[in-house]
Amino acid sequence: MNAGPVDPTTTAAWSSLSEHRSATTPDLRGWFAADPARARDLTLDVADLHVDLSKNLVTADTVALLLQLAEQTGVLARRDAMLAGEHVNVTEDRAVLHTALRRPAGASPALEVDGQDVDGDVQAELAKVFTFADAVRSGEWRGVTGKAITTVVNIGIGGSDLGPVMAYEALKPSVRAGLECRFVSNIDPTDVAETTKDLDPETTLFIVASKTFGTLETLTNARLARAWLWRGLAAAGVLADSDEARQEAVAKHFVAVSTALDKVAAFGIDPANAFGFWDWVGGRYSVDSAIGTSLAVAIGPEAFREFLAGFHAVDEHFRTTAPERNVPLLMGLLNVWYVNFLDAHTHAVLPYSQYLHRFPAYLQQLTMESNGKSVRYDGEPVTTHTGEVFWGEPGTNGQHAFYQLIHQGTRIVPSDFIAFATPAHPLVDGDADVHALFMANFFAQTKALAFGKTAEEVRAEGTAEDVVAARVFSGNRPTTSIMAPSLTPAVLGQLIALYEHVTFVEGAVWGIDSFDQWGVELGKKLALEIAPALTGDTAALEAQDPSTGALIRYYLEHRRD
Ligand code: F6P
Repeated sequence: MNAGPVDPTTTAAWSSLSEHRSATTPDLRGWFAADPARARDLTLDVADLHVDLSKNLVTADTVALLLQLAEQTGVLARRDAMLAGEHVNVTEDRAVLHTALRRPAGASPALEVDGQDVDGDVQAELAKVFTFADAVRSGEWRGVTGKAITTVVNIGIGGSDLGPVMAYEALKPSVRAGLECRFVSNIDPTDVAETTKDLDPETTLFIVASKTFGTLETLTNARLARAWLWRGLAAAGVLADSDEARQEAVAKHFVAVSTALDKVAAFGIDPANAFGFWDWVGGRYSVDSAIGTSLAVAIGPEAFREFLAGFHAVDEHFRTTAPERNVPLLMGLLNVWYVNFLDAHTHAVLPYSQYLHRFPAYLQQLTMESNGKSVRYDGEPVTTHTGEVFWGEPGTNGQHAFYQLIHQGTRIVPSDFIAFATPAHPLVDGDADVHALFMANFFAQTKALAFGKTAEEVRAEGTAEDVVAARVFSGNRPTTSIMAPSLTPAVLGQLIALYEHVTFVEGAVWGIDSFDQWGVELGKKLALEIAPALTGDTAALEAQDPSTGALIRYYLEHRRD
């Protein structure tokens, strides 16, 4: 496995794909007309997800060649290595085992990696999280003045924020009444201030979530939150002026999630109130670990187990399904096709569900922190483009904002449309009609993108000749439609796992390490070096380059304390 990746551009499949690309003009109208079975043949089910790939710019030949590319670049061997716990995160010399987080209790054969009883440890930690979640939900866990908790504030950033907040928003209908979660991530102090300003410290509990427990933003926000707690309790006259009293308040209002429990203790949080996970869980792959504690509190252990089962169903599909029916494999290969052969620079994800409004942001970290790399896992430069930009907004909002470019811009933007047959909230009078209208938009958009509107069709509507060209839709704009009966915890787990594996497949073809993130380090280091220049250290200011120095001076001149 560590022999180094296969250069995809040197494979026979790559050459064939290049020739095939030159010889093929995308023609979705023609392809559908010529092959009545196209929609059926290119629609696949994975667990509850119904995935229609037929409006992509591929023929059966394209798919066959892409599958050859997967074989010749060893994608499935790398998948098996990952699932078995080999150190496929080469630059950090770590196993990559987020799939172990959702293996059911008692899974057989048991997974032991690097001497660790992975299954046993996962189940034990999950049990701790669930005991805590039940205690908060039942009111057994009380704040320092004896009141039950009504608000949980998760403090984290990146994977320690985006997953929990996305899933909480997605599963709002499953959140226990009378309990609310909020999320603080930005080191901009207004984030903590705005999030806490209407909260009662006596009924608020903070979860400090950080894999490393060394992230500047999270630790700073945790300190701000702790100060807010002490200030609020003191102002209410319920906090004695002693270290002991302050410590007791922290014990009742702060828990932590981390792989670094020693640092949790140093912050002042009792390790008994901390939940752990392991270095083989990447931050952006961690929502199903203890990092999801806020979600477990909100939706409860039973729904959280369903969430995990959803992930596992897709893991099993990815592990066992034949390549030509393997949905994450095919979707990942389609993305490679678009990036490397059709010059797509971006990929839109467009959920037709307001509950999924944070899903594109979540996917940005998952995909771009994973695959935004210029070197392969053996340290050699990549030989082709990697890592497209993922972006999106819920439909129908996007329709009135950026869909113009997707329909008529000069670049193709492969787009995933996601929708649910039944909304997750109960339908009341008139809602069903509105949901049907919403869904009509979902169906209409992929149809318009695929089949477009010709000049003849525009003219036939009586359009003045001078605006005909502006009103033509070329069609052949690729989309994938993903549907499910409704957005349950299980379906959300399935969706996340699907995109995790799509991301994996792309990275495996490109030969990169999709599990490190060295590209975030330089900025962090420089921020620490620059910070003194903002608080009077003239030597630090003088050490800056002319542009950065001038910007800092502008800041210092205009700052009002
Ligand atoms: O800086 C990037 C990153 O390391 C992400 O990969 C991670 O999800 C985020 O920071 C937060 O890290 P932590 O959970 O260690 O605070």
